[in-house]
Amino acid sequence: MAKLSILLYPSPIIRKKSAPVTAIDGELQRFIDDMVETMYAAPGMGLAAPQVGALRRVIVLDPSDDRTAHVPIALINPVLVAGEGQIVDEEGCLCIPDLNEPVSRFKHVTVKAYDRNEKEIVLEGADLLARILQHEIDHLDGVLFIDRLSTAKRLLLKRRLRKGAQRSSPS
Ligand code: NI
Repeated sequence: MAKLSILLYPSPIIRKKSAPVTAIDGELQRFIDDMVETMYAAPGMGLAAPQVGALRRVIVLDPSDDRTAHVPIALINPVLVAGEGQIVDEEGCLCIPDLNEPVSRFKHVTVKAYDRNEKEIVLEGADLLARILQHEIDHLDGVLFIDRLSTAKRLLLKRRLRKGAQRSSPS
């Protein structure tokens, strides 16, 4: 396995739409293993392929408290098929370090996907699991959690993030 590097906002790649996976082969299995390693090393509760520069519809996540158990969920071509209720909670993203903001999400979701054994699965999740699923599936469409904030807050943040990016860019 190999750790992949995570792209940082405002990388244009993380704004692109990812393509559906058409073959669950050895290459994809190795890629998923690398994503899992990268997620735990970050550390993060979820990771989507575009965050590591691959525009393919793959996400990995682990919402468990005991993260040393390492029981990751890998989903291929995940689709949000139902959402219910609304809940606001703090959210962050590995592409935007040191930023956490309250985001409104569905409280319960149903997601259809393929697992890494090519089995079609239906996953139901609430609260944290539901939030991670929505956040990671958004990534596959180039959507970041900052896009889900109020307009005023988003404008303010984007200005701040742009300034931060300029400061940290090498001269
Ligand atoms: Ni993210």
